[in-house]
Amino acid sequence: MKKFCVIGHPIEHSRSPQLHQAGFTELDIEADFTKVDVKPSKLKEFLNGKFREEFAGAAVTIPHKIEIMKHLDEINQAAQQIGAVNTIINQAGKLIGTNTDGLGAYQALQTTIDPKEQNILIVGAGGASRAIIFALKQAGAHVTIVNRTTETAVQLAEEFGVEAAETLKAIDPEAFKIIINTTSVGMKEWKSPLDESFWSPHHVAFDIVYEPLETKFLFDATEAGAQTITGDKMLVHQAIAQFKLWHDLDLDPEIMERAFFE
Ligand code: ATR
Repeated sequence: MKKFCVIGHPIEHSRSPQLHQAGFTELDIEADFTKVDVKPSKLKEFLNGKFREEFAGAAVTIPHKIEIMKHLDEINQAAQQIGAVNTIINQAGKLIGTNTDGLGAYQALQTTIDPKEQNILIVGAGGASRAIIFALKQAGAHVTIVNRTTETAVQLAEEFGVEAAETLKAIDPEAFKIIINTTSVGMKEWKSPLDESFWSPHHVAFDIVYEPLETKFLFDATEAGAQTITGDKMLVHQAIAQFKLWHDLDLDPEIMERAFFE
């Protein structure tokens, strides 16, 4: 039986096993997907020992997405440009790192709107933001980054060849169609990085936070009549992309969507 895992620390709250197990059941795949709690100090040892010998692949989560790159044999171009790995493929003992977060965000958007040629405002300039900017730039969107720390947004914009806004106040909300929250603001707290007055009905709001699913960011957007995309969509679609890489099979996203709510 093929073994897969999600590597993180802490790891109890990861939803990856339930999503992938649902795919195994649906497509009759003989495989197992577990959570492995690996402390940062034990990462190298785990990868070179047990993982290389026993596992066919892994999902990688906080806090290992950047650090893990040092310990892999090969990193594909997308992950290199993003600067983080969220997926490992063990190809006969050779560990290959890639990143499906950007594709997941792109596919999540596609459930509601094609980002091509759209003006998109990305709030936040951390790791998740990097993956999303990479994918949306590739998809032909016009991206602007705004961040609490302006300097980080400016650096990121230069690196990816997109725009940066100095502050939220300097932004004309009407100039954007899609607004994406990539910050942790709204996670387990009733707060939004944007003012309620930001929103109007023509907007599409996308929050990558999925705990809670209805964040204040999305609530305010809905109140103003805008369309919304919840965080489960990105989680499911990045997992669907992993599923394709590991098993070379297309799984209906609906299967993982259902598993998310179980
Ligand atoms: P991840 O890798 O999950 O994207 P991260 O790298 O820690 O997380 O990035 C967090 C992002 O959320 C950053 O853009 C951060 O802004 P700063 O660069 O100013 O730190 C943003 N962020 C976190 N807490 C915030 C808050 N209370 N208000 C506004 N932005 C916040």
